[in-house]
Amino acid sequence: MKVAFFDTKPYDIPAFEKLGEERGIKFKFYETKLTEDTADLVKGCDAVCVFVNDTVNAAVIDRLCEYGINILALRCAGYNNVDINYAKDKIRVVRVPAYSPYAVAEHAMALLLTSIRRIHKAYIRTRDFNFSLSGLTGFDLHGKTVGVVGTGKIGRIFVDICRGFGMHVIAYDKFPAENSGIEYVSLDELFSQSDIISFHCPLTDETYHMIDGSSMEKLKKGVVIINTSRGALIDAEALLEGIKARKIGAACLDVYEEEADVFFQDFSGHIIADDVLARLISMPNVIVTSHQAFLTEEALNNIAETTVDNLLTCFRGESCGNELVM
Ligand code: NAI
Repeated sequence: MKVAFFDTKPYDIPAFEKLGEERGIKFKFYETKLTEDTADLVKGCDAVCVFVNDTVNAAVIDRLCEYGINILALRCAGYNNVDINYAKDKIRVVRVPAYSPYAVAEHAMALLLTSIRRIHKAYIRTRDFNFSLSGLTGFDLHGKTVGVVGTGKIGRIFVDICRGFGMHVIAYDKFPAENSGIEYVSLDELFSQSDIISFHCPLTDETYHMIDGSSMEKLKKGVVIINTSRGALIDAEALLEGIKARKIGAACLDVYEEEADVFFQDFSGHIIADDVLARLISMPNVIVTSHQAFLTEEALNNIAETTVDNLLTCFRGESCGNELVM
C-alpha cells in the first residue's frame, strides 16, 4: 500500500516510517500541504494522509477521486478542513479521534501558568542577568473560577487539572456529560462568571467566532482566554481590540484563525504579512504557541499507530470505527 503523506514535519517521519515498514505501507512524505495545486502528487498512491491545515475541499476530493484514491486518513482529531458532506459516497475519511488528550489539556495549563506568573518574561530577564521582579506580579489560581467550553476528552482532563489547583470549575457543553459531577451553566453565565475561559469544543458553524465583539461584552474584565482548540472559535481582530481596551487580561493561544499559512513554519528573519497576528504577538499579555499542544512522544506514537490501523482496515475493505463518512 502506497500513501501520499502531506505537510510532513521531521517529527512525523520516525514513527510512521517504522510502523509502515513493519506493516507493509510505503509512505511518500511531502513537505507541501495538500491543496488543489499539489493534488497531482497523489498519482500512483492508494491513499492520502493529511493534517490540520491541509485543504480537502470539493475540488481536491474530485482530484483525488480522479486518481483513484478512495481513502483519506486524517492524522488528527479535528476535521473542519475536510468537506465531509461532499466526501460522502466518494472517499472514505478516517481520523484519529484521540491521541493524547492529556497532551492538549496539560499544554493549556502550561500556557495559563506561564501567562499569569509571567514565566515568559522572567525567563528572558534572567538569561540577561536581570533579576528584577518589577512587573512580574501574578495571581493565585486557587479559588478562581474557570469556565470550560466543551467537556469531551480534553475538556474533562482540563477540568480535573483545574480542580487539582483548587479552582472553581464551571462548564458549558451543547451535550453535557451525564453523572460527571461537572457544574454546567449556560454559555452566557460562563462568560459572565469566569476569571479564566478555556475552549475545548470543535469548530462548527455554531462555535465559529464564539468570542467576537458582542460576546466580549459579556466577559468579566481581566478575563484570561485560553484556546487550544481551533483558531476560528475566536474572532482574532475582536480579541486584539479587547486586549487593547484592557477587557481581556491575557490570551493564551495555541491556535489562530489564519494559522494555515504561518504555523509550523520558520518565518524568523521574514516580514510577517498578518498584521493581527504580529500585533497579538507583540502584546505582553499574549502567548502564542504554534499548534503545539498535541506534540508529545506519546501522542505522536498514538497518531501513527491509529492512522496505520485506519489505513489498513480501509484498504482491506473492512468497516472502521474511526470513519467519519460512511
Ligand atoms: P471531543 O469530541 O472529545 O469533545 C468535544 C466536546 O465539545 C464534546 O463534549 C461536545 O459535546 C462539545 N461540543 C460540541 N459542540 C459544541 C458546542 N456548540 N458548544 C459547546 N460544546 C460543544 O473532542 P476532544 O478530543 O476533547 O478535542 C476538542 C478539540 O480540541 C477538537 O475539536 C480539536 O479542535 C482540538 N484539538 C487541538 C489540538 C491541538 O494540538 N491544539 C489537538 C487535538 C484536538
